[in-house]
Amino acid sequence: MSSCCPPKEDTAQQATRESVQEYYGKILSKSDDLKTNACTTDSGLPPQVKAIFPLLSDEVITRYYGCGIVIPELLEDCSVLDLGCGAGRDCYIISKLVGEKGRVVGVDMTDEQLEVANRNIDHHTRSFGFSRANVEFKKGYIERLNELNLADNSFDVIVSNCVINLSPDKDAVLREAFRVLKPGGELYFSDVYSDRRIPQDLVDDPVLFGECLSGALYWNDFLTLARQHGFADPRLVSDSRITIENEAIEKKVGHIKFFSATYRLFKHADLESDCEDYGEAVVYKGTVPTSPQAFTLDAHHIIQAGRVFPVCRNTLRMLTGTRFAPHFDVVGGGKQHYGLFEGCGKAIPFASASDSAAAAGGGSGGGCC
Ligand SMILES: C[S@@+](CC[C@H](N)C(=O)[O-])C[C@H]1O[C@@H](n2cnc3c(N)ncnc32)[C@H](O)[C@@H]1O
Repeated sequence: MSSCCPPKEDTAQQATRESVQEYYGKILSKSDDLKTNACTTDSGLPPQVKAIFPLLSDEVITRYYGCGIVIPELLEDCSVLDLGCGAGRDCYIISKLVGEKGRVVGVDMTDEQLEVANRNIDHHTRSFGFSRANVEFKKGYIERLNELNLADNSFDVIVSNCVINLSPDKDAVLREAFRVLKPGGELYFSDVYSDRRIPQDLVDDPVLFGECLSGALYWNDFLTLARQHGFADPRLVSDSRITIENEAIEKKVGHIKFFSATYRLFKHADLESDCEDYGEAVVYKGTVPTSPQAFTLDAHHIIQAGRVFPVCRNTLRMLTGTRFAPHFDVVGGGKQHYGLFEGCGKAIPFASASDSAAAAGGGSGGGCC
């Protein structure tokens, strides 16, 4: 093959990126220009985030195209990477939360978005009362963080708001995110998901794609992909249904349902594929400043302060093998295994497993024929 031509796959991916660049660089100039509500879902901001809004420049607020909240707790002094930072709204919120000793890097491929982000650095450095900027923006592709000299194991947290759906190579995005995260770090991100795989003719529609709809991952494919890249136990933090609110586009997408969802994916070498029960529990000390009453790990783990809270081994690792460790005490020896942790979605497959089935002579598994 001649060395002058990129492989076919790369050409198709490049065409997708150029179409997205055109959409976010030339066609849209503010959130109101979007044709659907897929990229502007932003309800329920936590108070510590709301309090930062008056310090933000109007320009970065009006160029926000995110679909959820990507601000986990305990960011002070952290190094944070924002994949597809756009005009930088989330980077600036996080810049305030990590403080002067922290570091924020935003990556985006679209010049027009980066211009807005860059020209607002001084405004925010002054507005936050910092002696020097703790944010920088880099132009590049989120699939190729290696080209931006972002080292292995270098970020505590990666965030991303409504971007991965726009990537033509989601596999590479997750692989690179896993590479640059420190062990114990997390990818905490909001994106658009569908309830089924999306037909190619819709994927090829530039408006549907640019509006963050037809590039959405079917939720179950996303979970498989995340696990393949080492994020063994993806945790759903929140979700909401996207209503679209554009008749022509609703007609095109037909019965496909879309959701905006925030997931957190921890990079921890000892996470297992399933939730195993070692008879362990945690007690939350109530010491995370923004959550004195209860700590929310995910939609299924809202842990009240001072109360013994039984956890599976994976949850224990997410709480005690990460930056959250100082805020939890562990109860229980953890030496003995008691099977799958009840209520985690899976159960023992043997029909004869229940005591009543055993008393009746076993289930269908008894005997070989
Ligand atoms: C829907 S906007 C979200 C922007 C920002 N996260 C926010 O919340 O306002 C998507 C952004 O992702 C960027 N983007 C999309 N695909 C990208 C890729 N493969 N590499 C780098 N940036 C990308 C676009 O340029 C655009 O700024």
